[in-house]
Amino acid sequence: MNLLIMGPPGAGKGTQAEVLARELNITNISTGDMFRAAIKEGTEMGRKAKEYMDMGELVPDSVVVGIIKDRLSQADCARGFLLDGFPRTVVQAEALEETLKTMGRTLDGVINIFVPREKIVDRLTGRRICRDCGASYHVQYNPPAKDDVCDACGGELYQRSDDNETVVNNRLDIYESKTQPLIDYYAKRNLLKSVNGDQDIKKVLGDILTILDK
Ligand code: AP5
Ligand code: ZN
Repeated sequence: MNLLIMGPPGAGKGTQAEVLARELNITNISTGDMFRAAIKEGTEMGRKAKEYMDMGELVPDSVVVGIIKDRLSQADCARGFLLDGFPRTVVQAEALEETLKTMGRTLDGVINIFVPREKIVDRLTGRRICRDCGASYHVQYNPPAKDDVCDACGGELYQRSDDNETVVNNRLDIYESKTQPLIDYYAKRNLLKSVNGDQDIKKVLGDILTILDK
């Protein structure tokens, strides 16, 4: 199964994608996580991406498209994939369509998680992430058993540098102007499956599995 998961920053894409990819036995690919890994490794690409990410701006299409093309050609994507955070512009969506076509593959569905804007700032400023395995928590809505320690691997939890109120508001503006048009783009292709993300985390997962007939 080849899927996309879309939605505004803080909609719960990463939270759901992690469980969903495991449930469906497909490869989870997050462009945001790939950039954060490149920053941690100190690569040239990571250094460039950080400048955009810290402002809440999008990394240029040409960079992101190149990375995704490479990633989709790797062996672990043959069993199916779940793309989280890509595409984010119409140019990226068209490039994905073209890439899949040359690979003889197609998309099976686009999960669109919607959450009202006023809920998002609270979600993102309270988010904490594991430095080691990338698992995502929330100080109030999804707290770890022990403060600042990952339940899954015992790693240290940290706050993302783009999870402050000013940058979050810019990310939301960019989402509305550049990414929201993709909802129409995929609706026209009969691929869109929308889910209410303003519910308990487990309920959102249940709804996603239901719309995927799983
Ligand atoms: P990226 O890492 O993709 O960030 P994002 O899209 O802004 O999404 P988030 O990771 O902030 O949110 P999420 O929806 O995954 O929410 P989560 O599950 O963590 O991108 C970062 C940056 O990289 C971009 O700004 C851009 O610069 C660059 N980039 C990445 N991809 C790009 C691309 N394709 N093109 C160009 N640039 C790109 O949940 C959020 C919080 O809420 C957590 O604390 C969680 O515990 C909590 N939560 C989750 N679900 C619920 C629920 N149901 N109820 C209550 N709380 C919940
Ligand atoms: Zn961890």
